[in-house]
Amino acid sequence: MNGAAGLVDRYGRRATDLRVSLTDRCNLRCSYCMPPEGLPWLPKEEILTDAEIVRLIGIAVTRLGVTEVRFTGGEPLLRPGLVDIVTASAALAPRPRLSLTTNAIGLERLASALHAAGLDRVNVSLDTLDPDRFARLAHRRRFDDTIRGLHAAHAEGLRPVKINTVLLRGINDDEAPALLRFALEHGYELRFIEQMPLDAQHGWKREEMITAQEILESLNAWFDLSPDPAERAGAPAETWLVNGGPTRVGVIGSVTRPFCGDCDRTRLTADGQVRNCLFATGETDLRGLMRAGASDEDLANAWRAAMWGKLPGHGIDDASFLQPARPMSAIGG
Ligand code: 5AD
Ligand code: SF4
Repeated sequence: MNGAAGLVDRYGRRATDLRVSLTDRCNLRCSYCMPPEGLPWLPKEEILTDAEIVRLIGIAVTRLGVTEVRFTGGEPLLRPGLVDIVTASAALAPRPRLSLTTNAIGLERLASALHAAGLDRVNVSLDTLDPDRFARLAHRRRFDDTIRGLHAAHAEGLRPVKINTVLLRGINDDEAPALLRFALEHGYELRFIEQMPLDAQHGWKREEMITAQEILESLNAWFDLSPDPAERAGAPAETWLVNGGPTRVGVIGSVTRPFCGDCDRTRLTADGQVRNCLFATGETDLRGLMRAGASDEDLANAWRAAMWGKLPGHGIDDASFLQPARPMSAIGG
């Protein structure tokens, strides 16, 4: 790969980490993401086919310097072609690292096929260890399915198994220590994510968000957290060693400790739009270009142009901040 031809922006950042949303649908309704009744899903004809997705991932990896591909949703396990998409991605040269962000419902059944197809690791979203709270938070009684999927990923040897947790005031904000105890016990890597204004209902309020600072205070009451000697290197999580290590815990202060200056992400939605940021208000339509007969190099150029225009930061704290029209489930985490 010629580095100069990669996905660079005018602030000198280089995107090497591609998030691909495989569907906007989900079998949960986490309140920070979707309303209980669901959303108007993307029409089928607008969703990229498996072949179209694989073609775009191929362009990203072979022409644009992408080294890491993460499959997201909605819930990516709901995509029938997932295993085939992973297989085709793992066959690319140079082979990208492949991971999956999932609620783990159904992972028990799929972990082994995904691993065999070339999946390297998973991030499981888990916000509570209490089945009733889970049902209240996600509007579905699927706690056991998530836990079984999580353990299955670990048993299958996918490493590291990471857990993503969003804490909500008055709902699960007392659970940080219990979740960390659970992670230590099973050898999982836990990361807390500050709630971002990406819910379809536009109900996010800054004062209701549990901040990185609050999370750290609640963990410090029970655990000895020491600075992690490993470099942060583009990763959004600030990490600490728990009780001297080797287990780490991470906090992603997306809102209060933004990491936009080190961002190395580019995103592709299930309907074939490139987004240069979670919070971008504009998109680049690769699906339209592709279906009109664009060549691989045309598509690569459109992708480069999309990333060149990336803004320096998300500006959540600016008076002029506008929440993106697309909710998280249609962007991909
Ligand atoms: N703020 C922070 N994290 C979110 N996620 C979904 N919506 C939000 C939000 N509004 C998380 C999920 C999952 C990942 C894809 O992003 O919990 O772990
Ligand atoms: Fe589904 Fe993830 Fe949204 Fe929860 S956060 S509703 S698991 S897409």
